[in-house]
Amino acid sequence: MNVSAIAQMTEEHQLITRVVNWLESLSASCEHHGSIDARKLRGATEFLRVYADQRHHQREEAIFFPLLVKLGVPPQGCPIGGLNHGHAQGREMVATLVGQIDAYEQKQADACEKIKKTLEDLVKHYRHHIWMEDAMVFPMGDRMISSADGQELAAKFDELDQQIGRETVERLEQFARSL
Ligand SMILES: [Fe+2]
Ligand SMILES: [Fe+2]
Repeated sequence: MNVSAIAQMTEEHQLITRVVNWLESLSASCEHHGSIDARKLRGATEFLRVYADQRHHQREEAIFFPLLVKLGVPPQGCPIGGLNHGHAQGREMVATLVGQIDAYEQKQADACEKIKKTLEDLVKHYRHHIWMEDAMVFPMGDRMISSADGQELAAKFDELDQQIGRETVERLEQFARSL
């Protein structure tokens, strides 16, 4: 058993949750004031695209889940098929949000209302997804993965970080902590 790779992903969930909680407060700002901090929201979309998706979801999709499949977990259906589908849905929501921020900055009518709806969907989606992984998939991985496999996971995580760039990862972590 190796907890370090899974502990890393659990910590990533905590940072993603910080951003999700902030998105929830921003959605309330849309409702009460009819305005938002668009610049900071754009920063949050970068966090979701790069840190949550290119880093965290790729750690799961391309490295962690394939190991679970190798160890006998079915690649389709629950939980892995559903979680991979969830990553694709999240990607689509973030792309929608980016378009809505453009519209907000161009002062299009109803832009804030549309952002509010997308934020509500995103918050619900991410919380449910993270809950599924924290409550079920990570504990399952913890039981199944040997120490050697865990070390290999951690090494592959490092390789992925090198591709993304460590400075980028650290900058986005700092962004999440600043919220
Ligand atoms: Fe995931
Ligand atoms: Fe995750």
